[in-house]
Amino acid sequence: MPRLCIALDTSIGQAFELIGGLRGYPIVFKVGYRLFVSHHRNIVDAIKEAGFELFLDLKLNDIPNTMREATISVKDLGADYLTVHTLAGLSALRECASVKSRLKLLGVTVLTSISEEEMQEVGLCPDSKRILAQIAYRAGLDGIVCSGKELEDFKDINLMKVVAGIRLDNDSPHDQKRVVSLEDAIRLGADMIVMGRSIILSQSPIKTVDKILMTLS
Ligand code: C5P
Repeated sequence: MPRLCIALDTSIGQAFELIGGLRGYPIVFKVGYRLFVSHHRNIVDAIKEAGFELFLDLKLNDIPNTMREATISVKDLGADYLTVHTLAGLSALRECASVKSRLKLLGVTVLTSISEEEMQEVGLCPDSKRILAQIAYRAGLDGIVCSGKELEDFKDINLMKVVAGIRLDNDSPHDQKRVVSLEDAIRLGADMIVMGRSIILSQSPIKTVDKILMTLS
């Protein structure tokens, strides 16, 4: 069954509430730009001290030397997962993989907020998603971040599949374009489910997490 990763795209106050309220739950916390830029060490330490795994969603996309050095910094920070853009290319991804040690590197293929039309606008074709997933594999990454819509097509790619763009029934997709339901993500073989707004904007985030974990078990 897939693991649940909660995207802490929240204020620092709500993040601390969730970390405290979910102590002992079998979940991973994801920190993105919002909290990491403003609260860096505080949020990292709060997650680690509470005993959770830390997923740092920095989506690195730069030249090989810069990406390698950043990977070392993230590893030294104690993160468990780090995202990198597969569009950074094979050389840069290989540099990251060469220094990752126990840090798990996840390659973002095509963001779940990008529609098929937007892919065309930036010069990507329908095959690009699979090509980028294969690049992640060739570079020695641990997993990929993709939409549930691609899981079928990526079945033969032996990497951890982290799925974003998941919505519970009746939730707005917001800015996400390639969205699937929680049930479909499970059925199609996701290894980790990343969910943000369906949890953090719900009336009772902890009850919502309980419900999701029931579905996952
Ligand atoms: O609120 P929602 O569930 O759409 O949040 C999804 C989270 O996953 C956000 O934090 C976003 O940055 C992240 N993400 C994504 N698509 C990717 C990689 C990460 O939506 N391909």
